[in-house]
Amino acid sequence: MEHNFWHDRWESGRIGFHAQAPNPLLTTHFPALCLTEGSRVFVPLCGKTLDIGWILSRGCIVAGAELSEMAIEQLFEELGVEPEISDLGKLKRYSATDIDIFVGDIHALTPQMLGPVDAIFDRAALVALPEKMRSAYTAHLISLTGTAPQLLVCFAYDQSLISGPPFSITKDEVHRHYDAAYEITELANQEAAGGMKGIAATESVWLLKPR
Ligand SMILES: C[S@@+](CC[C@H](N)C(=O)[O-])C[C@H]1O[C@@H](n2cnc3c(N)ncnc32)[C@H](O)[C@@H]1O
Repeated sequence: MEHNFWHDRWESGRIGFHAQAPNPLLTTHFPALCLTEGSRVFVPLCGKTLDIGWILSRGCIVAGAELSEMAIEQLFEELGVEPEISDLGKLKRYSATDIDIFVGDIHALTPQMLGPVDAIFDRAALVALPEKMRSAYTAHLISLTGTAPQLLVCFAYDQSLISGPPFSITKDEVHRHYDAAYEITELANQEAAGGMKGIAATESVWLLKPR
């Protein structure tokens, strides 16, 4: 999607993707990442997700990337934390104790800016992107994090019936993007509650471990 699509969504409050509770697949399958306290978890295309507060509550450090500055202002307000804001050129960094969020296009983020990452949590990031943008995103994620282990949440449904986002990502596509870098395990695959815009959909969570 174009950047303006997402800016419009945030500015008009059309953020149906924003969940009112931490993602149940995160809270159930987080232990599969085998992280210890103080591990740094990268949340790409993070919006103002409550998953961030939940990961912080596990004793982990969070790094995020998000296009919308409005989303990140709301994130810090809702966390009740005053961020320090620095100008990194094409990006801004919003930082506070145990949290750094890079505001701007994730493709402008470099491994040097991001710093070390122990794991990635992708919910509504890969599925937010149209097919022609997904390969660049997955390759960038791998190079940004040095192939950090990843929990990846995806939807699958009949893409010929409705358009995204969220887009349908098949098992074959997950393997196409990530097979070369990761051992891929499907941890769960369940019917998506309420379907997707009225049609049947499944939600799956994948564990990606570096080869
Ligand atoms: C579907 S939302 C998901 C947000 C969050 N992961 C969640 O679960 O609530 C996708 C988010 O990606 C952001 N986004 C889209 N393109 C981006 C890009 N190129 N760089 C950084 N963020 C981007 C949008 O602004 C939006 O907040």
